[in-house]
Amino acid sequence: MVLWGLMLGILLVATVGYLCLLGLFRQRRPQEPPLDKGSVPWLGHAIAFRKNMFEFLKQMRTKHGDVFTVQLGGQYFTFVMDPLSFGPILKDAQRKLDFVKYAEKLVLKVFGYDVVPGDHRMIHSASAKYLMGDGLKDLNETMLDSLSLVILGPMSQSPDASCWHEDGLFHFCYNALFKAGYLSLFGRTKNKEQDLLQAEELFAQFLKFDRLFPRFVYSLLGPCEWLEVGRLQRLFHKMLSAQHNLEKDGVSNWIAYMLQFLREHGVAPAMQDKFNFMILWVSQGNTGPASFWALLFLLKHPEAMRALREEAARVLGEARLDAGRSCNFKVSALHHSPALDSVMEETLRLKAAPTLLRVVNGDQILKMASGEKYQLRNGDTVALFPYLSVHMDPEIHPDPTAFKYDRFLNPDGSRKVNFYKAGKKIHHYTMPWGSGMSICPGRFLALSELKLFVLLMITHFDLELVDPDTPVPPVDPQRWGFGTTHPSHDVRFRYRLRPPV
Ligand code: HEM
Repeated sequence: MVLWGLMLGILLVATVGYLCLLGLFRQRRPQEPPLDKGSVPWLGHAIAFRKNMFEFLKQMRTKHGDVFTVQLGGQYFTFVMDPLSFGPILKDAQRKLDFVKYAEKLVLKVFGYDVVPGDHRMIHSASAKYLMGDGLKDLNETMLDSLSLVILGPMSQSPDASCWHEDGLFHFCYNALFKAGYLSLFGRTKNKEQDLLQAEELFAQFLKFDRLFPRFVYSLLGPCEWLEVGRLQRLFHKMLSAQHNLEKDGVSNWIAYMLQFLREHGVAPAMQDKFNFMILWVSQGNTGPASFWALLFLLKHPEAMRALREEAARVLGEARLDAGRSCNFKVSALHHSPALDSVMEETLRLKAAPTLLRVVNGDQILKMASGEKYQLRNGDTVALFPYLSVHMDPEIHPDPTAFKYDRFLNPDGSRKVNFYKAGKKIHHYTMPWGSGMSICPGRFLALSELKLFVLLMITHFDLELVDPDTPVPPVDPQRWGFGTTHPSHDVRFRYRLRPPV
């Protein structure tokens, strides 16, 4: 009898524990944001969220207002939608909202990389040294060289270089930016042909991984896809091995510095390979898709294309192809191109949609700009989705879904930086790079890479859509929240090398 009682007691405790785990008993406490657990135990709203995060969050904001907590796969996420209240979340000097904790788990799962203490800080200091300011000058030159090699190189050998060529615009842009970015950062050998072939092969595998990526992060892959992801991970670890790096000539200072740090901290070579895979992903996963959207907007908006070609002619003088059909830009021209800057900013406003996540480290109060206060629970996650709350806010950006190439230009042609919400000047008026401690440290390189690519394409090529009436394709809904979005399908275009002047 006593034994039965004991067994029943254990069963009861286990059941209650399990139900707690499922989040079934969680109730909204005083001062906490509205809580929406969804109707499915544990999963909560995960299915709707993963299907289309943008639409889901729009509905939640309509239902609950600017702050709400939702259950997603057993975890609780508090979304803050008022950009005037972002400041304390992003500044957070005391690390009470922790980015690293969240990132560590993700990179272990996706890249197999087990974070070394201090490497988040190290990545940012390596980037401050080599991806910004003076440190970026050399890399910009290398990037221009690589872009010329990747785009103009194959053409220069083709007898029909000035005939029309047709391709998918997304494929063309992603392929070009990936190969140029990879060769510039991970180095080249003396054999250019071989380098291009290797970069092409890597890109083909990268695309396969990229397609599976959103569902991999959400653990939604089928058994065959799991196997495929494992195979791709191993392949990348091999193709990007630190040993292989040593055999190359021009490994960028950025990568060399970071690998040196890992070696000095006793990180095993196999783990360095995984680090390289992570770095390949963060450095190449966004820029190609962003260049696609930028060129597509230019092709759909002739007034924007005209403005950029005029600016390019002014800034670059007559851009010529020299005998080797490479590019003779001065990279410094990138500092005098406000119209191109505005096109890039507008493209990223419309098509870059990252989620910023911070793990709540200890119960704490969130103070909103309105003066309201909300209690945050230890272990939950605070989430920002600036695409919806900033980029698409009609008060900050009137007619927010329209592409306006000069949205970020003042009437005198200088860069526009003053945007307002509720009569207040808003600091975060676009956030394609994230913000705070996880802000993209590659943003200056990414921008110059994108600008060089666009300049090169519009000055050296005639470009047109195969069907000029084709609409801008919608965003693939699976990509919301993962940085630069992808289109739901590719768009055919034609390009032809302009004859040398
Ligand atoms: C259009 C191109 C790009 C976009 C839109 C972009 C966007 C972002 C965003 C939103 C984050 C923060 C993610 C978060 O908060 O979790 C991030 C992180 C990062 N990005 Fe970029 N990125 C781009 C290109 C690049 C390039 C070219 C590099 C390097 C060469 C780079 C290096 C990194 C690194 C190392 C991180 C991790 C930072 C950390 O852990 O704190 N990114 N990027």
